[in-house]
Amino acid sequence: MDKSISHRALIIGAMADGETRISGLLEAEDVLNTAKAMRSLGATLDREAPGTWNVRGVGVGRFTEPKVPLDFGNSGTGSRLVMGAVATTNIKVTFIGDESLERRPMARVLDPLTLFGARYAARERGLMPIVLEGARGPVPIDYAVTVASAQVKSALLLAGLNAPGRSHIVQHVLTRDHTERMLEAFGADIVVTPLADGGEAFSITGPAELKGIEIDVPRDPSSAAFPLAAAILVPGSQITIPGVLLNARRTGLIDTLIEMGADIAVENVREDGGESVGDLVVRASKLSGIHVPAARAPSMIDEYPILSVLAAFADGRTEMRGLEELRVKESDRLSAIADGLKACGVHVEELADGLIIEGCGAHGVPGGATIATHMDHRIAMSFMIAGLAAKNPIGIDDASMIATSFPEFENLMRGLGAEFGPT
Ligand code: S3P
Repeated sequence: MDKSISHRALIIGAMADGETRISGLLEAEDVLNTAKAMRSLGATLDREAPGTWNVRGVGVGRFTEPKVPLDFGNSGTGSRLVMGAVATTNIKVTFIGDESLERRPMARVLDPLTLFGARYAARERGLMPIVLEGARGPVPIDYAVTVASAQVKSALLLAGLNAPGRSHIVQHVLTRDHTERMLEAFGADIVVTPLADGGEAFSITGPAELKGIEIDVPRDPSSAAFPLAAAILVPGSQITIPGVLLNARRTGLIDTLIEMGADIAVENVREDGGESVGDLVVRASKLSGIHVPAARAPSMIDEYPILSVLAAFADGRTEMRGLEELRVKESDRLSAIADGLKACGVHVEELADGLIIEGCGAHGVPGGATIATHMDHRIAMSFMIAGLAAKNPIGIDDASMIATSFPEFENLMRGLGAEFGPT
């Protein structure tokens, strides 16, 4: 189930009046930490059945000051979105996380939040633990987001909900749009205008009144990427992954793999809860290396680790650039991927903003290494998939982080015939 939509459903549900009923919530550690944070801020959350949650919100501007620090574990999305959600309410909130999250830049969100009137103190410049004091008298802002980050945009939109007047936010690249779609569905006054340069302008009016809604969370394309990759790599495979989110801001990997020669059919496309979803039918395929357009990065930003694994098995060279953001994810993904693939006998060049991978093609990927995952779930899953098709087994140093986004990963992959064992 989609992680981005799950976080947002809980946060926006907690900021709304009345009840929000969520089905298909991703019950992974990252999302459960967001749920806990919403409880600490005063919302009532009941888990009625697996994946079915009922959120009774407090209303915009009515979060209460938490008695304990909010621990977001490994989650950049949860922590950054909640920073925005609390920044225009007069409460003091402490944000903490695990070692990986404590290394990730937060000033990209916190600095623009100070324009609303919020203040913060950080351990070091912009690093957690962070104490954020929401604005006493919030004011609307006029701000251009300089990083290609949906998290930053979303944090500012959520903060704008309680700043009286119109906030204007501009982003010159298109990033995932779940926050704006959901805010509209909850009844916020938000206007999105396309810009001539391909970006977007947002105007949002506070104080907003949000009304609880029903949300059905579709399957996460970023998680579907792993069984999809396994089916491409393992000869004779054919699988169907039903009900996958097909929002065009999230499907860059599918486009890229089809260009590389993957046999992926998208079937039964339908609208569900304001999002487009469909079934992916994937068959084992031979891939060829390509040049991945840099402009596509935001639509597949979390998929580069698994794409890199697929590129290692492809024929020919794959070049990917425009990926400086990958250095500040759960790990420095460019170096984690490059080091991991090199350890598996693949020729990789690590660039400041990308990777050049020489596919092993018919020779096969040697494998036979244990990969350092650096507390990064997607590095862990990517190399486990690589191990399914490499000539020698591949180990990973730590599988525990997989539960942050995809607790069912191992079972699901075993169900498809994968064998995992202790290294
Ligand atoms: C997310 C946005 C992306 C992505 C993350 C989830 C979101 O981060 O990497 O896993 O839910 O908004 P950035 O927006 O910072 O690139």
